[in-house]
Parts: sequence; structure tokens; C-alpha cells
Amino acid sequence: MPAKPWGGRFRQPTDHRVESFTLSLGFDRRLYEYDIRGSVAHARMLAHVGVLTAAECEQVVSGLEQIKSEIDRGEFEWIPALEDVHMNIESRLTERIGEVGKKLHTGRSRNDQVATDLRMYMRDAADEIIDALLDLQNGLFDIAEREAETIMPGFTHLQVAQPVTVGHHVMAWSEMLERDVQRLFETRRRINVMPLGSAALAGTSFPIDRAYTARELGFEAVSANSLDAVSDRDFVLEFIADAAIVMVHLSRVAEELILWSSESFGYIHIGDAFCTGSSIMPQKKNPDVAELTRAKSGRVFGNLVAMLTVMKAQPLAYNRDNQEDKEPSFDTVDTLLACLEVMTGMVSDIHFQNERLFTAAQQGYATATDLAEYLVGKGVPFRDAHEAVGQAVRYALEQHKDLTDLSLTELQGFRREIEEDVFCRLQIEGSVAVRSHVGGTAPGAVRQSVVDGRARLAAHREALDGLPR
Ligand code: ARG
Repeated sequence: MPAKPWGGRFRQPTDHRVESFTLSLGFDRRLYEYDIRGSVAHARMLAHVGVLTAAECEQVVSGLEQIKSEIDRGEFEWIPALEDVHMNIESRLTERIGEVGKKLHTGRSRNDQVATDLRMYMRDAADEIIDALLDLQNGLFDIAEREAETIMPGFTHLQVAQPVTVGHHVMAWSEMLERDVQRLFETRRRINVMPLGSAALAGTSFPIDRAYTARELGFEAVSANSLDAVSDRDFVLEFIADAAIVMVHLSRVAEELILWSSESFGYIHIGDAFCTGSSIMPQKKNPDVAELTRAKSGRVFGNLVAMLTVMKAQPLAYNRDNQEDKEPSFDTVDTLLACLEVMTGMVSDIHFQNERLFTAAQQGYATATDLAEYLVGKGVPFRDAHEAVGQAVRYALEQHKDLTDLSLTELQGFRREIEEDVFCRLQIEGSVAVRSHVGGTAPGAVRQSVVDGRARLAAHREALDGLPR
């Protein structure tokens, strides 16, 4: 059994229950790359300020690099009695390079070390999620372009409201994701602050150069208060909150895809590759990908609540409570990436049933608002127009007719201002065509928003490439 690095003041061995209860190795070994990178930068900084000699630094760095390749190759022997990823790597370093390995932890604590590791991990995770969000947006742009003219019913209260284009609907999803991307970029700036140098809580007596370490590690700033830096996990909260909002958005998209692919709607077919079957009902083809995405939002919301609870009322500075930050963080990243990847695949395999959509858009008196707006154009105050059209709709309902089926004389019975030119406004194509302003549903406006969206996406990708890491 290897000696615990903190064993000096203890007489009795750790109870086996405590050992397994406090163990974090099972999950935090996932941070090894960041832990090693942080240690290399720390060692170089110590040499830079003269705490380590250049030769000692070389030994430490090459030892750490060898350990990294041992872990990469799956040849590293993880020792649970050494608690966590940090002590496993440090202990192996001393085993490999001897006495010099014991100097690495100078001017550092696991408290600032783990906070630094997790911030580096989250910075990469944010970048990966932004990238995946951009991929999904790209898939939505392709649909919007293809279906810029396809007309479908737009809903409020899940009741047919007004005709819209499929392109416009899909671009609404893309707008949600665009804000998610922006949120993650902003959160990333607050993640990318380096705690290293805070040591356990009070800083260190060694002449450290924190700016040097930060440059090595791609941090944009160093933390301004050592107590705060080792203890707060608000960057985790913020990241998971952003992720929870992404999941809200994905769940909304998923829900609509589920509805639309149902027999009753029949708006879309989802390709076989993105559906699964039933073990009893041979005819079934189910939208399980969308359903699981909808449900997995629950995990991420749960992770957010878990982390809020971990942080709530925690006294300064570091407490072991904070070890509980990792599993919700990892699970959030894994869940998001999985959902985004599969949704991106699925949206490339959605086939819109244009005739069915068109028929559905013609039902439900979807152009009643157009008739009211037409009357306003003829000088009728909007409230009066609304009233007259309401009566016309009630009449048409009683006659089991659509508004377009009414004759000019019938329509004039509700407002004498109505003329022959009303019929093109009652057509759903006319209804969407006139909504050509910025943010409107007209095919031209949709195409423009796709052009703008693609330009924004390219700018995001460029920004992502240029970020320090
Ligand atoms: N495994 C610990 C964590 O995840 C590392 C820091 C432990 N620090 C300590 N003083 N026990 O937070």
C-alpha cells in the first residue's frame, strides 16, 4: 500500500469505509490531461522564478510527459488508496524520477490544482458544445433553405393560428441555438480565469509568477482573491445553467418533431436510421431519438439543482463538498454532446410532407387575420374589422365552408368595403408573401435570415479558432 502524501500527522490507517467514501479517482481521472498540463506549467514557472533549477524542471516535465503517455496507452496503474487523480500522478512522478518529484507540489495545493483542472476541462467542453451547436444550426439552415416556400400552419395554444413557412419555423429553432452559443461564449470568459497560485486558500510564500503560468495554460486572467478562487464553483453553475437552457431548447424541437411525425399530424417523415421499432407491434416506427432528447433534459436540470445545492451556504474557503462538482459537470457535457450529435444527424434526415402541410394550413381559418388586415387597408378600424371577420368565420363554420369558399356577396354581407381583390389575400400563399419584413415569415425574409445565419456561424467558428486555450 503506497503511503498517503498527507499521512504524516496520522497514527491510524484510514477506515476502509472512509477510503471508498472519499474516493474520487473513479471520475476525476478524466481530468488527467489537464492535471498534467497544469503541473508542467507550474514546474516551468517554479524554474522561471528560481524555486526549481532548470535541470530539476526538465526532470519533472519529462517525467510528467511519460506519465501522460502511460495513461494515454492505458498502462498507468491507478491506485485507489491515493484518493484522486492529483495524488496518483504526483506519487507516480516520484516513483519514476525520484526525490525531485517531491518538489513539484511547492507553492501549490490540491485546492487550487483541482479548480484549475476543472476550469481547463470546462473551457474545452464549452468549445466542443459551441461547435456542436453550430453543426446543428447548420443542419437547420439547410432545411430552412430547402423549405423556404413550404407553407404549414403556425400555431398558438397548439391551435392553428396563421400560415407560416417551414423555413421560418425552423429558423426560430436556430435563433434559440444562436443565443445558446452566445451564452456559452460569455460563460467561457468567466471560466477562463486561473486559480493556480491560490494554494490551499491563502496564497503562498514562494515568489510565484502567476501571469507566467496563466500564459502557459491559455488563461486570460488570474483570479483576484485566493479564498474565492479555491472555493467558488459558480463557473460550473453558470455552465450547467447554460446547458440546461440548451436542453430546454432541444426538448422543444424534439417535442415538435414527435408531434409532427405522428400519424395525426403527418407533417414529416423521419428517416429509418433515426427511428426505432416496437418489439410487439410490427407496424411501429417510433421517434425515440427525439423522445430521449426530450427526457435527457431532466438529467441536466437535475445536475443544475445538485450543484446549486452543493454551493448553497458553503463557508469559505475550500470544502470537500466541492468534490461533488465533477460528476454533474461530466454528465452534463456528455449528455449535451450526445443529444446535439444525434439531433444533428436526425435533422439531416427529416422529410417534409408538403401537401399535407399545405392542406393543414388551409384549415382552421388561418387567414382570418389577413381578412381583418385587408379591411384595415380599406379604411376600417382594426377593432371593427376584427369583429366583422369574427362574424364571417362563425358564418363559414356554420356553413361548413372555408373563408375562400364564401362568395363576394356573402363576404360583403359582413363589410361592404370588401371587393374582388380580397381573394388573393385569403390564399395562404398571399398571407405569407406579404409578411416580408425583417423577422417575417415570407420566403424572401427566410432566405435572408439563412444568409445572415450562415455569416454569423462563420464568424463564430473563426472566433472559436482564435480563443486562447
Ligand atoms: N479530490 C478533491 C476535489 O475534487 C481534490 C481537492 C482535495 N483537497 C483537500 N483538501 N482534500 O475537490
